[in-house]
Amino acid sequence: MRLLAFAASLRRESLNRKLLRVAVEVARSAGAGMDVAEFAEFDMPLYNADAQAATGFPPGAQALAARVRAADGMMIVSPEYNFSMPGTLKNAIDWVSRMRPVPFRGKHALLLAASGAMAGGIRGLWQLRIPLEGNGVLVYPDMYTLSQADQAFTPDGQLADAGALARLRAMIEGYVAMAEKLR
Ligand SMILES: Cc1cc2nc3c(=O)[nH]c(=O)nc-3n(C[C@H](O)[C@H](O)[C@H](O)COP(=O)(O)O)c2cc1C
Repeated sequence: MRLLAFAASLRRESLNRKLLRVAVEVARSAGAGMDVAEFAEFDMPLYNADAQAATGFPPGAQALAARVRAADGMMIVSPEYNFSMPGTLKNAIDWVSRMRPVPFRGKHALLLAASGAMAGGIRGLWQLRIPLEGNGVLVYPDMYTLSQADQAFTPDGQLADAGALARLRAMIEGYVAMAEKLR
């Protein structure tokens, strides 16, 4: 079972990428094969149907689609921007959603977020479910949020709070078990 995993942030010191790194290790120890991507690999222009008609899909969208096609599911760690998902992530979903067959259809996903705020990014994840489910992704019911994430990591990138790690482990193990059953 293979999962594509990425954090939807381009920032060098991204808190979501830090959470991704911990989550990837947990998923590997739960038995998942991981394809870890940098979001910058999926750089693409703003969606424009005229550009699509004239020159087809941009390389970044094709790269994302290829990685999605090669995976059984996705682990997406996304910041919350203005109570929603980052526009960069929605734009990427929009491009890939115009491909036929839709690369997302029949995949599953686990959603995670890290935020400096108390809400932990949960509002963004509820928004992110909509375009994914609209494109035929089975989104795991539980979603992981890490609040006050600017204080959540040790200098070597581990989760400082044992409870936060236990919660992450339980959620990822549940998701991987579901993914194995689906196979
Ligand atoms: C445009 C913008 C909007 C934001 N809106 C929210 C928000 O609605 N809720 C929230 O918890 N944090 C919000 N933040 C703060 C981000 O959660 C914070 O910058 C976080 O560190 C971004 O993720 P990253 O560290 O992985 O890049 C916003 C940040 C930006 C740049």
